[in-house]
Amino acid sequence: MATFDLKLSGGTVHTPGGPVRADVGICDGKIVAIGEAGDAGEVIDCTGLDVLPGVIDTQVHFREPGMIHKEDLETGSRAAVLGGVTAVFEMPNTKPNTDSAEAIADKLARAKGRMWCDHAFYVGATNANAAALAELERLPGTAGVKIFMGASTGDLLVSEDSSLADVLASGHRRVAIHAEDEHRMNDRKGERVAGDPASHPVWRDDESAMLATQRILKLARAAKRRIHVLHVTTPAELELLGRNKDIATCEVTPQHLTLAGEEAYPRLGTLAQMNPPIRSGAHRDGLWHWLNQGVPDVIGSDHAPHTLEEKGKAYPDSPSGMPGVQTLLPLLLDHVAKGRMSLQRLIELTSAGAQRIFGIVGKGRIAAGYDADFSIVDLKSQWTIDESWLASRAGWSPFTGMALTGRPVGTIIRGRRVMWEGVLADTASGAPIRFEATEFAA
Ligand code: DOR
Repeated sequence: MATFDLKLSGGTVHTPGGPVRADVGICDGKIVAIGEAGDAGEVIDCTGLDVLPGVIDTQVHFREPGMIHKEDLETGSRAAVLGGVTAVFEMPNTKPNTDSAEAIADKLARAKGRMWCDHAFYVGATNANAAALAELERLPGTAGVKIFMGASTGDLLVSEDSSLADVLASGHRRVAIHAEDEHRMNDRKGERVAGDPASHPVWRDDESAMLATQRILKLARAAKRRIHVLHVTTPAELELLGRNKDIATCEVTPQHLTLAGEEAYPRLGTLAQMNPPIRSGAHRDGLWHWLNQGVPDVIGSDHAPHTLEEKGKAYPDSPSGMPGVQTLLPLLLDHVAKGRMSLQRLIELTSAGAQRIFGIVGKGRIAAGYDADFSIVDLKSQWTIDESWLASRAGWSPFTGMALTGRPVGTIIRGRRVMWEGVLADTASGAPIRFEATEFAA
């Protein structure tokens, strides 16, 4: 009989072939056996629980270096594992921007021994670094290149077609895009109503998003470069992206699937302000329509923390963004409980999808040989999001007080129990994510 380092016993295990009641055997941080008997040094009783592949959040802003009063790599990743997330892709709009080999090396060094989950860092495209991006995107621990087509938090911006073409021509990996049209938004600044964040989606309107998505699709096709459109907020864009699957993948966020502007802005004020904006209930329903047509490839949280003091400024001086890495899986489990999508679709959007479109090595499915990353959940647990549960330095969530069905119980990363019932391991041991594109690069 085999001997494992760790065994998950008695859970419902969500394998690529579907759910099975099985034990999972783990050795040296990897899955070695599903449904085969064996002794183990450590056994975790998963009776009554569902064992999902580790949730990968492919869009978070952890603010280090430069804005660590909002968040840092330790607090952000602590929030991640408490919410059942096993790996994150972190965004480049830090201070300084993550736009050079030195900045990537700095983030990887800061992450070592401090990040609780596995991680990769995006390189930010600028008007100046296009030529270097082909090299930068091949650095180990790099998730690829990120372009802001419209200004958001920070000063990363590539708004002109000629510069976008230069960026797309430099390198091969899928490029992540914040698609809002800078020119249209500049023209429409007069639409912002002082003190009224409900005017945010009027200013940054559907057309601002659609124009940018149309432009980048055209440029990507000309450059023969694959793109990934982040946080899509309009059904019309999803319809368009669904017709361009050969070249483009896309993301939706839990907050755009959960909040409707009609109720969110009166209730939450500037806490509901983000880019691209929370739009109407009809938009939200349209995102669900296309989600169930299979168009979005991943759900990412766009965890973008700001302090309550900063958020307390009057619109439009208030910063855009809301925390979300810790509430991503809880909100989605609740949507599953309410019948809006299947658990199988959740898995596709939170682990398998990320593996497929970014070429992650050894993660995203429960299969022999893969990293032993698991998000272990109780699908029936009823609970309420409480401020005391939140680990983000921001200290708030737009979802505080929300009653949910479905709760992350455990986070296992490379065979290590990092979180169980809200209790963390003694030390942080997150490691860089490996990618097919960078595996043999160095
Ligand atoms: O609302 C947002 N906040 N959207 C972004 O694109 C950036 C983010 C941030 O970094 O605060």
